[in-house]
Amino acid sequence: MLSPETLPPMSVAVPPALQPVRTLAVTGGKGGVGKTNVSANLAIALSELGKRTLLLDADLGLANVDVLLGLSPRHTLADLVAGRCSLDEVILEGPSGVMIVPAASGRRHMAELRPAEHAGLVNVFNDLQRDLDMLVVDTAAGITDSVLTFCQAAQDTLVVVCDEPASITDAYALIKVLARERGVGQVQVVANMVRSPQEGRGLYEKLSRVCERFIGDVSLNYLGAVPQCEWLRMSVQRQQAVVRAYPASPSARALTEIARRTARWQAPTAPRGHVEFFVERMLRQGVPA
Ligand SMILES: Nc1ncnc2c1ncn2[C@@H]1O[C@H](COP(=O)(O)OP(=O)(O)OP(=O)(O)O)[C@@H](O)[C@H]1O
Ligand SMILES: [Mg+2]
Repeated sequence: MLSPETLPPMSVAVPPALQPVRTLAVTGGKGGVGKTNVSANLAIALSELGKRTLLLDADLGLANVDVLLGLSPRHTLADLVAGRCSLDEVILEGPSGVMIVPAASGRRHMAELRPAEHAGLVNVFNDLQRDLDMLVVDTAAGITDSVLTFCQAAQDTLVVVCDEPASITDAYALIKVLARERGVGQVQVVANMVRSPQEGRGLYEKLSRVCERFIGDVSLNYLGAVPQCEWLRMSVQRQQAVVRAYPASPSARALTEIARRTARWQAPTAPRGHVEFFVERMLRQGVPA
């Protein structure tokens, strides 16, 4: 006779817990320094390295990840904010299998969301039931609440700088506000449009010196440089990512190398106690489903 002890174990389909996600916000203070190109190429290169990667266009008012990659989204973050669709429905598949959350361009109310709505957008990611390894967030220029909140909500902030005095002063101003107002303690730096590796390193050292001297409680890490590259400009014209259109070009190789470095980073293990992407996955870690 079958007793409960002799019964075979029941095969109940328990969904495996979703793993924590490594999150990275790309920013820079100044406009036009290459934030969107760095974010999009990094996300695509990470995807090519086998990381399940989501690219979020968080330039809420003047979104252009979709334009850069030649995509025509059916839904955008504006539809999500208006309650017309879910986050899952906004996601579209981009090159090399990268998942993309496009934003809307020219919707002024999206550029004027309140701080609580920015935090709400971060929290919406808790509802996403997809296996992911990485989230890359492309932020807007400036030091508005949206930029600060998306940077604070990511484990890492990557600041893009280029060889212009305003780029260094804007990056410094941004890092100061992130450190003083949002508790950001570490910043990754990528030098873009450099004419030599020395120029990239020099830009990093210049920024690092002023931050050490005037901010103190923030540490900078040099992630690498992307050369000034005609192939990248051509890929922008063709509405393709340079890592896909011209993978052997100097900028594509540099961006892939930066992606390799970030792919080695460990996912977070504990929440930091403030607004944070995918915080629920961290809290559920190790808790049986
Ligand atoms: N490494 C590079 N080599 C050559 N041109 C580059 C490079 N990086 C960026 N650019 C040029 O700079 C332009 C602006 O780049 P991108 O849109 O990525 O900047 P951004 O910081 O996102 O700008 P915004 O502040 O408007 O969002 C690109 O269209 C391209 O023409
Ligand atoms: Mg941009």
